[in-house]
Amino acid sequence: MEWVVLLLAPLAVGALLYLVGRWLFSLDGDLTLLWAEWRGKRPEKELPGKVVWVTGASSGIGEELAYQLAKIGSLLVLSARRENELERVKKQCLEISNLNSDDILVVPLDLTDRSSHEGATKTVLQHFGRIDVLVNNGGRSQRSLFVDTKLEVYQAIMELNYLGTISLTKHVLNHIIQRKKGKIVTMSSVMGIMGAPLATGYCASKHALQGFFNSLRPELAEYPEITVSTICPGPVQSKIIDNVFTEELSKSLQKPGDQSHKMPTDRCVRLTLVSIANDLNEAWVSDHPYLAICYLWQYAPTWAWWLLNKMGKIRIRNFKSGVDADVSYSKKKS
Ligand SMILES: NC(=O)c1ccc[n+]([C@@H]2O[C@H](COP(=O)([O-])OP(=O)(O)OC[C@H]3O[C@@H](n4cnc5c(N)ncnc54)[C@H](OP(=O)(O)O)[C@@H]3O)[C@@H](O)[C@H]2O)c1
Repeated sequence: MEWVVLLLAPLAVGALLYLVGRWLFSLDGDLTLLWAEWRGKRPEKELPGKVVWVTGASSGIGEELAYQLAKIGSLLVLSARRENELERVKKQCLEISNLNSDDILVVPLDLTDRSSHEGATKTVLQHFGRIDVLVNNGGRSQRSLFVDTKLEVYQAIMELNYLGTISLTKHVLNHIIQRKKGKIVTMSSVMGIMGAPLATGYCASKHALQGFFNSLRPELAEYPEITVSTICPGPVQSKIIDNVFTEELSKSLQKPGDQSHKMPTDRCVRLTLVSIANDLNEAWVSDHPYLAICYLWQYAPTWAWWLLNKMGKIRIRNFKSGVDADVSYSKKKS
């Protein structure tokens, strides 16, 4: 009998470890986020009728946010630079929802034109009378090595991703503080937590956002109904690689590469809406290996670096061979 136990015990432990490993590798969000998705408040209950202002709504994650919010019944403000694309998104929102034309306001906005942010905020308030949620989503990534990149590119990235975002936040927050309620949600990135080659400026801008909003949150602690959330996606399917900054401001990426290995946009947006509905302070929305590295980063940063350095070599090799640089373990959910 004893030898049977001795034989089976390691097998049982092995099987258990295998199952736990498989389960961990099937996750695509941090545990607080996935718990909220399972047991928490539902976006369909929390967000209908709310005025949600989405920047970067003309493509990718922002566009999909507009569609999912429209279906839920949120009132929408859509902003980005390209008005014709925003009108296209608005038209599509009207087709898939019960919203009327007046329920969706298109406000063209260049995040780098900070002098226009006050006027844009007034336009929204004149139309809807309030802003319940600001989703700071507009932004651009980077694909270039630091040694090859002009300094003006770094300035442009910070102007857009960091200063543009906090400028708009400042105007909207004035209104939210007057009402003593509202949500500021910012699309950061796993690159706001860790680092990655080919994206030194992008990572710096997202780290800046993380630091900024992590410090703003406790400044607003006296207002229990004002929440500040940062969403940290890993690689997600969108137009982000077509629009990246490169070595020079005037140069775009020649071969954006295949994006199909990345998290589907609708899954990223669904988890973002769960985060908003549940007022999560920070949410990691990512497939592996980036999700695993986020965890490792918290507990054993030096081991995380060992892994990141290995992945970094693959990123640079992929980039130089014209394949998309991101390394992703994807499960194709849609
Ligand atoms: N996709 C990913 O893998 C990923 C991962 C982590 C985080 N994110 C973050 O998610 C957000 C959305 O990116 P995405 O993936 O959806 O990329 P995307 O498809 O390229 O969309 C970017 C959006 O930002 C807008 N934008 C760019 N420059 C702007 C400016 N100067 N003023 C106003 N809007 C501007 C673009 O609209 P116009 O060109 O019309 O202005 C577009 O609507 C970004 O903040 C990005 O950093 C993306």
